[in-house]
Amino acid sequence: MQVDKILIIDLGGTNNAEIARELRHYLVYSEVHPHDMTAADLAEIEGVRGVIINSGPNREVDGILIEPSADIMALNVPFLHTAYDGYPKLPGNPQEREKLLKEFIFDTCKARPNWTIENFLEWKIAEIREEVGDKKVLLALSGGVDSTVLAALLGKAIGDRLTMIHVNTGLMRKNESEHIREVFDAQFPGQLIYVDASDRFLTKLEGVAEPEAKRKIIGNEFIAVFEEISSSLDDVEFLAQGTIYPDIIESGTKTAKKVKSHHNVGALPEEMRFKLIEPLKTLFKDEVRSCGHVLGVPPDLINRQPFPGPGLAVRCIGAITRERLEAVRESDAILREEFSKAGLDKKVWQYFTVVPDVRSTGMRNKERSYEWPCIIRAVNSVDAMTATVEPLPYELLARLTERITSEVKGINRLLYDVTPKPPGTIEWE
Ligand code: XMP
Repeated sequence: MQVDKILIIDLGGTNNAEIARELRHYLVYSEVHPHDMTAADLAEIEGVRGVIINSGPNREVDGILIEPSADIMALNVPFLHTAYDGYPKLPGNPQEREKLLKEFIFDTCKARPNWTIENFLEWKIAEIREEVGDKKVLLALSGGVDSTVLAALLGKAIGDRLTMIHVNTGLMRKNESEHIREVFDAQFPGQLIYVDASDRFLTKLEGVAEPEAKRKIIGNEFIAVFEEISSSLDDVEFLAQGTIYPDIIESGTKTAKKVKSHHNVGALPEEMRFKLIEPLKTLFKDEVRSCGHVLGVPPDLINRQPFPGPGLAVRCIGAITRERLEAVRESDAILREEFSKAGLDKKVWQYFTVVPDVRSTGMRNKERSYEWPCIIRAVNSVDAMTATVEPLPYELLARLTERITSEVKGINRLLYDVTPKPPGTIEWE
């Protein structure tokens, strides 16, 4: 099945991704390309029905106005220009804009509305099979949505020529690594190599209190473990990564300013002996989730809340000790249990507990205690750039206080963080 495509050439537009999403919403596949894309680059893409030249405020780069490549402009394909050399801007009014875009893609370009998840999967599976041939592929499986869906896709495409490595950093949530192992061993083809590296990570982190230093240690240690394991596997030629479209767009295009560099624990070294494959790199998060559903990934793995790459390390504030890390893990498990009982797990975007390196006086069994507070965080957000606080019912807070202070060793107080982002951030470190 050939998927029809409309390309968006980024001539400094700030709404490239928004237009791509809108066209996909009309079931026409669309992707964004840099302004210097050549006719030869375009010829490599099958099924191109039309091109949108999307100009905008970032068109001036270092004082010079960038232009699309002349050989692209000479091609005999339909073009739509936005705000380019006298052409008008795309209408801001949603109805007018929808009408204009639909006329262009359906009437002018004659694109078929065949962008469905099923077609995407069929297309990618064929592409992966052709590229990989009879070679093997390695995947670092964190258990997050993207790597999980990728594992399911690769399993379908190449079966047991997929090898997955899951590194337990000791900074995962309660039972998380075990759950990943069970699900993958039972339901997915391909071999899962499980590495329990908890001791290594916790030893390296001993006495380190500065947040960025902690992140760096975790990232480096992850790479070290991954390289050790992968060097013992000989006939692997490809490394698969769960990169998705926002990772590419947010890391900066050729015209847009860099928004933020991504700091995933899985950031792998550049000089690897593997060839990279990134089949999800043109998908938005909701599309990745839809792929997961179609591929039969269990819903609890697909609908997960965001979880930072460095894991619970950024919630065990300051220098990590095993005892305090355990208090973070146990309180987080209770919070998740109570949220799911109250139906809040489907409503709240991200929720977790934090245990700072501070102690206060309290009472336990009629005696003085000197223990840590546990801080609850529950926030709503669309893109994690800003966040508002979920107003939790007081009865729930009271129940959490009762359970966490009695069931979690070393906790004698419960606090609720009511700070939005900004001025706070979502995490405490
Ligand atoms: P902040 O705390 O900056 O977090 O408001 C925004 C979102 O990003 C997650 N986060 C991370 N994710 N590696 C990640 O992969 C990290 O180092 C990291 N730090 C924060 C955080 O959980 C929130 O969803």
